[in-house]
Amino acid sequence: MADSPLKLSILGLGTVASGVVRILTAENEPVSRRAGRSFDIRHVAVRDVSKPRDVSLPDGVLTEDWQSAVSDPEVDVVVELMGGTMTARDAVLTAIAAGKHVITANKALLAEYGDEVFSAAREKGVCVAFEAAVAGGIPIIATVGRLLTGNRIRSISAILNGTSNFILSEMAGKRRPYDDVLAEAQALGYAEADPTMDVDGTDAAQKLVLLTQLALGKRVDLSQFIRQGIDTLELSDMLYAEELGYRIKLLAVTRVVDGQLEMHVQPTLLRADRAIAQTDGALNIVELEGDAVGQLVLSGAGAGQMPTASAVVADLVDVAIGRAQQTFPLLDLWQHDSRLSVLPPEKIERRYYLRFKVADKPHVIADIADILGRHEISLASIIQHEAPEVDATESGDVIVPLVIMTHRTTEGRLRSAESELRRLPTISAAIMRMPVAD
Ligand code: NAP
Ligand code: HSE
Repeated sequence: MADSPLKLSILGLGTVASGVVRILTAENEPVSRRAGRSFDIRHVAVRDVSKPRDVSLPDGVLTEDWQSAVSDPEVDVVVELMGGTMTARDAVLTAIAAGKHVITANKALLAEYGDEVFSAAREKGVCVAFEAAVAGGIPIIATVGRLLTGNRIRSISAILNGTSNFILSEMAGKRRPYDDVLAEAQALGYAEADPTMDVDGTDAAQKLVLLTQLALGKRVDLSQFIRQGIDTLELSDMLYAEELGYRIKLLAVTRVVDGQLEMHVQPTLLRADRAIAQTDGALNIVELEGDAVGQLVLSGAGAGQMPTASAVVADLVDVAIGRAQQTFPLLDLWQHDSRLSVLPPEKIERRYYLRFKVADKPHVIADIADILGRHEISLASIIQHEAPEVDATESGDVIVPLVIMTHRTTEGRLRSAESELRRLPTISAAIMRMPVAD
């Protein structure tokens, strides 16, 4: 081996970091050969050294003192796999200030503090590599940041959260209850420490922000686009979607429409025969459209120990051979801002699925259709399954689901109609609505 070993401090020894240690401490001759040098894990920082671990490390490597781990003058690279944004931000900035290259899988950190982290790194002449931060094991950052640089990217349609995709697939395919499947996603190491961000769309939105910036050079804040999670979906929505020939996915979309950027992360109805609709379990998929390359589809494990570790180790090899140091200063991230503006959500035009719970009595559908009609929303189909002839409930009404598919309309018209619909006494619960992808 030509060069001396690359010396590492790894912050965290949870799901992903244990996978990285596994790859680096197994018989890793091919990895070292590709890197041109071996890897020497000097420190692994955790919260609690007494916790049982499923990987073994030499004595003295495990520590609760992340500050010493990042400041050790011997260390070349800090691999941040702690998660969260507070300590992780301190640790990454401390590492950069100490002249270390940083590798991170932390999209929450980059979506919130990417600007600060990247400017600090550029100033110090070190690099930040983050292949694992978007779509787990899929090499999407290298593809967009390096291999598609001859293109203008026109659109991205993607599933970017493994946990929610696992939940949707298990609920729809096996009729399993939401809470059970979420608990399994946590046990399998797919979910974030706090799974709220997985199921409310935040994690996918953070990844979309990074990908959009890398692909289109446009900084977009999470507050500028629609973010809706899977946490309010019911099994009945999946069954109605199936009946209509669709499947529901948490779809992250960025596309250029008339010189503006349309973006959203929402559970979306997709025709069942589309590849993206058939992407199940913790898999992610990214469909890209570039002006030169045309359509490109990448699919693979979006979460989980070894797929994510695969992406982290790819970054380590890139740093070891000096490739990351060359590409990092030129990445379109937090340095230029394209002139594209973000299309206001109200102007986005799509078809919609609407599900109501309504009193089963005369004029209910007429009232709903009247409100939608007055807002220029045209109905494409209606499903109300026959309800049994039963006595009225205590409140006097039998409540039944009613599903309406609309023709194309704007988000703005739908929002105005919704505020009127919510005042109808015959609608008994929150209205579920999802866009339909054409
Ligand atoms: P995890 O299993 O919860 O592990 C976190 C690790 O960080 C634990 O070992 C924990 O120590 C350590 N840690 C947390 N706070 C610390 C602190 N203040 N000081 C020292 N150590 C601390 O998390 P993970 O699933 O591996 O995720 C790590 C990162 O990768 C996150 O940014 C996540 O978003 C990202 N990511 C995860 C996946 C995935 O599939 N899991 C995929 C892509 C990206 P203890 O062990 O002592 O508690
Ligand atoms: N919690 C994330 C997911 C991990 O489920 O997709 C991968 O970033």
